[in-house]
Amino acid sequence: MSSNSPSREPAPPGAWTFFRQWLRHPLSIAAISPSSRHLARLMVKELPPNCERVIELGGGTGVFTRALLDHGITDENLMVVELNEELHHHLSRRFPDVRVALGDARELPAVAKKAGFAEPGQVDAVISGLGLLSMSQELQTQILESAFCMLRPGGRFIQFTYGPVTPVSRDVLAALRLRSRRGSFAVWNVPPATVFVLTQARSRAVKAPPEGKNRTRQRSAAPR
Ligand SMILES: C[S@@+](CC[C@H](N)C(=O)[O-])C[C@H]1O[C@@H](n2cnc3c(N)ncnc32)[C@H](O)[C@@H]1O
Repeated sequence: MSSNSPSREPAPPGAWTFFRQWLRHPLSIAAISPSSRHLARLMVKELPPNCERVIELGGGTGVFTRALLDHGITDENLMVVELNEELHHHLSRRFPDVRVALGDARELPAVAKKAGFAEPGQVDAVISGLGLLSMSQELQTQILESAFCMLRPGGRFIQFTYGPVTPVSRDVLAALRLRSRRGSFAVWNVPPATVFVLTQARSRAVKAPPEGKNRTRQRSAAPR
């Protein structure tokens, strides 16, 4: 068995916290357990060359955060956004030197500004742990618009999904002029997952949504 197999990996810190939050908010948590370190490594492998500044969406218990730091992304060049208060608290304690924002991925420019992290167009990659597959087209559009507003030209949006195809609807990809490329397949994950990389099909930056436009409370934030 490979050293990447889940049976060799201890439960990630906060796995029980994550499960409790899934019981309370199954729609927004969208997974019964945190991603494996194997999947996290495959996500991080898709960072663009010379990548410095990264935003992570839906940090959960911090599996991707840990992998990003291990890869060499510095504390000051990383911002993690988490909607769930308890998971935000967990992340803040686990990574005291990283900016961990309690906020909504749909409002990324405002969240980044408030955290003093970056201006639109200054970020090399967005790594997403969000359950995009089960989101409405409207929600997918809002999240991707916000993310691509923060990304520099050529920046990458890296997403995993449990399905066989890209988790973003074709209509949304077309409307936002995004390309989707299939990355690696993580067999050692429950359930197995595939990595996808979204990039802009042309160099124009996606326009920032007006501040506060997408603001709603957690329960209504994730009709997945
Ligand atoms: C499928 S879990 C993934 C957690 C972690 N990245 C992992 O892979 O184990 C989705 C995470 O996204 C968070 N989330 C859901 N909607 C969000 C939103 N609109 N903005 C920020 N975080 C969100 C949830 O609270 C949850 O922690």
